[in-house]
Amino acid sequence: MRPVRVGLLGLGTVGCGTVTVLRRNADEIARRAGRAIEVVRAAVRDPARPRPCVTEGISVDGDARALVEDPAIDVVVELIGGTDPARELVLAAIERGKHVVTANKALIALHGNEVFEAAQRRGVMVAFEAAVAGGIPIIKALREGLAGNRILWVAGIINGTSNFILTEMRDAGREFADVLAEAQARGYAEADPTFDVEGIDAAHKLTILASIAFGIPLQFERVYTEGIGRLTAEDVAYAGELGYRVKHLGIARRTEEGVELRVHPTLIPERRLIANVDGVMNAVLVMGDAVGPTLYYGAGAGAEPTASAVVADLVDVVRTMTADPGNRVPHLAFQPDALADHPVLPMEAVETAYYLRMEVEDRPGVLAEVARILGERGISIEAVIQKEPRAGETHVPLILLTHRVREGRMNEALAAIEALPPVRGSVTRIRLETLDAGGQ
Ligand code: HSE
Repeated sequence: MRPVRVGLLGLGTVGCGTVTVLRRNADEIARRAGRAIEVVRAAVRDPARPRPCVTEGISVDGDARALVEDPAIDVVVELIGGTDPARELVLAAIERGKHVVTANKALIALHGNEVFEAAQRRGVMVAFEAAVAGGIPIIKALREGLAGNRILWVAGIINGTSNFILTEMRDAGREFADVLAEAQARGYAEADPTFDVEGIDAAHKLTILASIAFGIPLQFERVYTEGIGRLTAEDVAYAGELGYRVKHLGIARRTEEGVELRVHPTLIPERRLIANVDGVMNAVLVMGDAVGPTLYYGAGAGAEPTASAVVADLVDVVRTMTADPGNRVPHLAFQPDALADHPVLPMEAVETAYYLRMEVEDRPGVLAEVARILGERGISIEAVIQKEPRAGETHVPLILLTHRVREGRMNEALAAIEALPPVRGSVTRIRLETLDAGGQ
């Protein structure tokens, strides 16, 4: 049988990784797929630029449109990122009956509903394993390996750049900007690194994970998104004293009332395996009702780890090319006509525990006043640390951990605490999750 012909949109870090892995492992890949897979064409922004891989045998030019319209191409691999022109090119490829493999989380999170509908209509596949957590086969695990479970929650370290920055801040006391520059130089950070540090990249990935876990439409606009920009070394250190690590987590949880979709810095007990995932590594913890907790760990970015996911998708596509479209694994794990319309909860309705830090006047009765405000709202305190005043200071840091409470109730308590005369400035709040088997 003739080889499957692949056209690459983009021949940068991941594109070159894909070419290299396909070449190096060609025999084993063909034995798995049942046919050889060859990259025959690539479209790039600047064809004259030297590439970090061997491009012999690949026709490289600057015409992406011509590539998606080329009748000689069977599968288009989209690696240009961003939604524009990626959306248009992917839709054009689908329209021409081509299967698509993409690493583009923004495209899937924002336009996946439209893209999958078009693919369904045309009977082609759109595979996107590389869009979430790079080389970790988390889409495959959730969509197929855990298909017997009711998924209760998913919590993941899904932005390597943020995890790298947090790890270096804690372990090496390095400055934020310095660590970010290193992540960019290593090719982990997005072209626009605000997507990493403001949590947008993680929110794209969480949107995808939540849809596959719960069988709901993609709803990026409903994800509560907070990045690591406001975290201080002081809070990271106090969390450590209390036995916690601060991680930037994407959390999707099913409750009686609806679905929580949130991305924010989170204190997690340091004894949890996921709390010890450091540097640029990613990890996703999935709680299924039958299997219990399962943890998936690996490289979330980089040339060959991401290529590993792209090539696995290519093998999947090739294996099922001749299958009846109705019998393929659905894009969002659940049959398209069986997606549920569970409401996504507003942040005020989300229940979590909290780390609170405030600067209070060092005099008797202040702690009692703070405790009264929390107690009146049914917020129970789990731990307290009060630090010595710094030299010449009248105020001291007061750190509290609370039990679980609705965010709306905590907002009311924080407004009342910030109005107390002995409390200076605003209260720092970081959400806390124990990530135990009870789902909390
Ligand atoms: N910028 C992403 C990260 C790369 O830091 O995890 C992979 O999506």
